[in-house]
Amino acid sequence: MPVKPDNIESALQEARSFPPPEGFVAHTRLDSAALEALRREASADHLGFWARMAWEQLQWQRPFTVVLDEADAPNYRWFTDGQLNVSHNCLDVHLAQRGDKVAILFEGEPGDVRRITYRELHAEVCRFANALVALGVTAGDRVVIYLPMVPEAVVAMHACARIGAVHSVVFGGFAHHSLRERIEDAGAKVVITADGGHRGGSVVELKAAVDKAIDGDACPSVQRVVVLRRSGRAVPMVPERDLWWHELTAAHSAECAPVWVDAEHPLFLLYTSGSTGKPKGIQHASAGYLLGAKLTSQWVFDLRDDDVFWCTADVGWVTGHSYVAYGPLSAGATIVMYEGAPTIPDAGRFWKICQTHGVTIFYTAPTALRALMKLGDEIPARYDLSKIRLLGSVGEPINPEAWMWYHRVIGQQRCPIVDTWWQTETGAIMIAPLPGAVATKPGSCTLPLPGIDAAIVNDNGDEVTAPDAGGYLVIRKPWPSMLRTIWRNNDRYLAAYWEKFQNRFYVAGDSAHRDRDGYYWIMGRIDDVLKVSGHRLGTMEIESALVAHPRVAEAAVVGRQHDIKGESVFAYVVCKGARPTGDTSALVQELRDWVAEQLGPIARPDDIRFTDNLPKTRSGKIMRRLLRAVARGEPITQDVSTLENPAIVEQLRGPDTQS
Ligand code: PRX
Repeated sequence: MPVKPDNIESALQEARSFPPPEGFVAHTRLDSAALEALRREASADHLGFWARMAWEQLQWQRPFTVVLDEADAPNYRWFTDGQLNVSHNCLDVHLAQRGDKVAILFEGEPGDVRRITYRELHAEVCRFANALVALGVTAGDRVVIYLPMVPEAVVAMHACARIGAVHSVVFGGFAHHSLRERIEDAGAKVVITADGGHRGGSVVELKAAVDKAIDGDACPSVQRVVVLRRSGRAVPMVPERDLWWHELTAAHSAECAPVWVDAEHPLFLLYTSGSTGKPKGIQHASAGYLLGAKLTSQWVFDLRDDDVFWCTADVGWVTGHSYVAYGPLSAGATIVMYEGAPTIPDAGRFWKICQTHGVTIFYTAPTALRALMKLGDEIPARYDLSKIRLLGSVGEPINPEAWMWYHRVIGQQRCPIVDTWWQTETGAIMIAPLPGAVATKPGSCTLPLPGIDAAIVNDNGDEVTAPDAGGYLVIRKPWPSMLRTIWRNNDRYLAAYWEKFQNRFYVAGDSAHRDRDGYYWIMGRIDDVLKVSGHRLGTMEIESALVAHPRVAEAAVVGRQHDIKGESVFAYVVCKGARPTGDTSALVQELRDWVAEQLGPIARPDDIRFTDNLPKTRSGKIMRRLLRAVARGEPITQDVSTLENPAIVEQLRGPDTQS
């Protein structure tokens, strides 16, 4: 939640601490001595440390001699003269030793199961890569992937990586408007989608959304649409443009030599919300990104060859990139992929999957935990969770209550919990405990990983050292998996992450504080980015969608605390003509559905309140802090004397008109 980070004393005083369980430490990859040694090495020689990691962890086709190129800082470049291929580093490198090991254990929402070995995955990736080449896709071309959470999503990502094409995965929960915006900005040549995916007991009509997104003159860059058969539903196919995945790949060979690319060659774009304007295409580079994803998979998840690793994130989010598609595969792990919702057919689905597939490491978001926690301890108690040895959390702060439930009911007081702080922009986990080395505290992501120079600074950029004093979370030294730029908008990259402290630090956009032990506690966003069920939404995007409705003149969106979602969307709306009064429920419903239809169900406002106008300062700025206070029912502490229309405050508080 946005707060002014300076001088905030945290109200949260969490005294519980959980040392790594002895049984865990006995078999861990990294114990505290090994961790200390890495920390010492990294702080003594930042570049030497990262160079050693890159040598040891990645297979290079052409070795690098330059570790970090700072010529265009803060557009940093890593390992610049080296060449490799990401898909080769995730698949080919395992064929000799792990060819018959299961790479992907897939379960569809209807219950269908597939086990795909590394050898089979390699063959599928090669076939699809050959097919993309046949469609005219070459290195540097953008390919949008809009698929359900099925193995072909990973196949498509690796096929792009194999030929040097740049993928941009769009979350299947986004609607046609969001999809169009992303296809257009990326200038995608090919879109890969499906006849539908199973989610929440129904079929998500992905192909229909693609057709709508590229209808008429929209998205002229798109030459081909590849359609995977998943739901079996009939979908209209546009002649010349649309092709079935299975027909396309049938003719192609299961061998495809990887295209060696420069370390800095873009691997993917992933659009994410910022506080202003359109979503930003976060651009990641090949080698540095893979290094971060691989190392952290091994460090934070303590991956061993016999582990079954399940990260529940969709590949449409960065977590699904780093800890489904790339990190664990580069480390040779077996991953679980599940297509559907956690509540189908009932709220035991996650635990049933853990039992059936023998999941040993489980990584999910606090919002899912809170929802499942609410349903009680009896449901997980029906399943055998004894194989689980490590739990993880990501995407938003985990409240101590949910942490303790996770620890007690799912981890059965046996499993360490890794609360991992990172972002789309950081590419990989930045602050998290190493489970065999660092004691955990419920609600804290603990300590930065080796090679990550995090700090908390005040508004002047001076380090805040007093325990529990809040400030801006920054990263002081570049790291290999950092974003390289914002696609086609480097000015926005500079403004969003570097300007605040004159290019000295990367500004994460979160506020945080550190306790007496140096542990980090993330307090929330300092900008107008909401975290709804762990998904990042820009207030501007939702406002633009509302204003596009014929009845709406103006809108302001803020976040409000929500028991399960963390935050929910609260919209103040000024209608054209008179303010709606009396029973407004039909209009409220219409506007909520409108936003969902434009952007996707995750952006649907929970609350809508009509007002004559929005509170603005005399210079015309919307007073968001005031709106937030009203939405949350907090006392108004802001100076309202500068309001153009002070009487509006009562109206804003007005009768709740929401669902
Ligand atoms: O506010 C922080 C929150 O999620 C933001 C990044 O969102 P996104 O790019 O969508 O990536 C989410 C998955 C990595 C951060 O700026 N966040 C992420 N992890 C945590 C967190 N907040 C608190 N604790 C975390 N473990």
